Amino acid sequence: MKLFLDTANTDEIREAMTWGVIDGVTTNPTLVAREGRDFHHLLAEICQLVPGPVSAEVISTTAAEMVAEAQVLAAVGAQVVIKVPMTPAGLQATTKLKELGIKTNVTLVFSFNQALLAAKAGAAFISPFLGRLDDLGHDGVALISQICVIFRGYNLQSQVIAASIRHPLHVVQVASAGANVATIPFTVLKSMFKHPLTDLGVERFLADWQAAKRPGK
Ligand code: E4P
Repeated sequence: MKLFLDTANTDEIREAMTWGVIDGVTTNPTLVAREGRDFHHLLAEICQLVPGPVSAEVISTTAAEMVAEAQVLAAVGAQVVIKVPMTPAGLQATTKLKELGIKTNVTLVFSFNQALLAAKAGAAFISPFLGRLDDLGHDGVALISQICVIFRGYNLQSQVIAASIRHPLHVVQVASAGANVATIPFTVLKSMFKHPLTDLGVERFLADWQAAKRPGK
């Protein structure tokens, strides 16, 4: 399973890239707005840091405008993937962008039928938002599992990005469900390092090493 970082913060991306565990980045308008920077400059900087897929979302509402916006964003870097919303206009744009050789990530997917339509339209990636489903009392992980099982059965080619991940258990669950990618916030990525026995083990090894260096020993 690939790990993408779900952020537009270049400090987070820079630090995570040093750990050698990040395959790509996803952004969205909320994450970009939080940075208070020019989108195109920010996207260019992210593309310099990350060789893998970098999702950049369009904010237009008609297919023609989405395609025009996408062409400008795609010109920023060869790894840019255009995020389009799961709407009729979004799928129209997905179809057109596929013809133009531009990859898409269909976002805001909350049901199997939406995922199926996005796959039929030629999306390279599909992003079901499990955390937002869980927030409403639905089972987000079950949706990821359903999409992955049926897509494999029918040999549908779109990669499933488990999005809106809220905690480390979600990562385990979507890996078990067969997601191609989990896109995770920086805080969740950092918590994946953590185990109290690792901390205790490091502490003990260092203490034993220091004790062995006492004079006379
Ligand atoms: C995915 O691509 C989205 O950017 C993201 O996962 C949304 O997460 P949220 O529900 O925490 O806003």
